[in-house]
Amino acid sequence: MSILSLCLIQFFNLKKGESVNLLEIKGVYKCYNEKQKPKVYAVHNISLNIKKGEILGLVGESGCGKSTLGKMLLKLEQPTRGRIIFNRHDITDYSFNQMRKIRNSMQMIFQGTANAFNPYFTVKQIISEPLNNYSSESAEEKEKKIVAMLEKVGLNHTYLTRYSQEMSGGQRQRVGIARALILNPEFVVCDEAVSSIDYALKRQILTLLIDLKRQFDLTYLFISHDISAVNKICDRVVVMYLGNIMEIISGINDKVQHPYTKALLAATLVPDPKKRSKNMVLLREGEELKIPEKGCVFQNRCLYTQEVCKTKQPALVPHNDEHYIACHFCCKNRI
Ligand SMILES: Nc1ncnc2c1ncn2[C@@H]1O[C@H](COP(=O)(O)OP(=O)(O)OP(=O)(O)O)[C@@H](O)[C@H]1O
Ligand SMILES: [Mg+2]
Repeated sequence: MSILSLCLIQFFNLKKGESVNLLEIKGVYKCYNEKQKPKVYAVHNISLNIKKGEILGLVGESGCGKSTLGKMLLKLEQPTRGRIIFNRHDITDYSFNQMRKIRNSMQMIFQGTANAFNPYFTVKQIISEPLNNYSSESAEEKEKKIVAMLEKVGLNHTYLTRYSQEMSGGQRQRVGIARALILNPEFVVCDEAVSSIDYALKRQILTLLIDLKRQFDLTYLFISHDISAVNKICDRVVVMYLGNIMEIISGINDKVQHPYTKALLAATLVPDPKKRSKNMVLLREGEELKIPEKGCVFQNRCLYTQEVCKTKQPALVPHNDEHYIACHFCCKNRI
């Protein structure tokens, strides 16, 4: 088939409103300690597509595997099993040198970046690091680029000579964003980019991330504990529990079906006290956060566990358009 016909097919598919997948995650597992028996998976059989231009949210309790999944997509961690396809290239077995060629297209705003910068580095050195690794521009050109990026994130050239301890948490957060975007990536994993900052600043950073996404045509995986932030900026949200996907939905709202997602929603602060009474605690308390040997991973904490949940793991199946659920009882299309 000629290149022209391939382009035409792609053009007509896009015209029909079909979106292109930037990332395809196929049956991905991560086990950090392969010798342990039984094996414990930080990420367990995850299959998921991330569409070009979308903001995909990833939520779930601490330790459920969010950062591990984000790192595997950028090959900062190697999957134990499964495939990762980026821009239609299977990068699962790419070598360090092969990854170098595409590393500038995929970046991460690291969890806790704000506190993780080298204290002996100035802002200029922090943001220069990726440029020095990937760009052959002159020092002058690099500095121009850095200043332009600082301005995009609401800082300016006066910050070039500052050390991280001379900035506020919000300013450091912006430097982390500038560092991730300086190579003009296509895909960014934002790992808790707005955690532990106050409400006003959170709004500013979220607005900034949305603006930058529009300007640079970015695709984000937005990892967060913060349901309100996720609902504010994400097109779809993936809910994880102990390494498994429980639900994929357009937002953590009244439409959620999985008992775990309902519990997450119940745990968010609702300003109106009249509405709070509807959101009661929906988890079995005091149960150990341990992966059961068989059946549904959520069985120990679910209020609705039945016999089948103890023996058979529910598959993730479509409930409605773009809404997927892994539960034996709350998905209308369950067979
Ligand atoms: N390098 C590592 N070696 C061994 N175990 C690890 C490693 N990194 C993560 N883990 C384990 O994998 C599991 C998932 O960790 P991960 O950091 O992905 O969780 P998370 O969902 O990002 O949590 P949080 O919300 O606290 O950031 C945890 O049990 C963690 O202890
Ligand atoms: Mg994490």
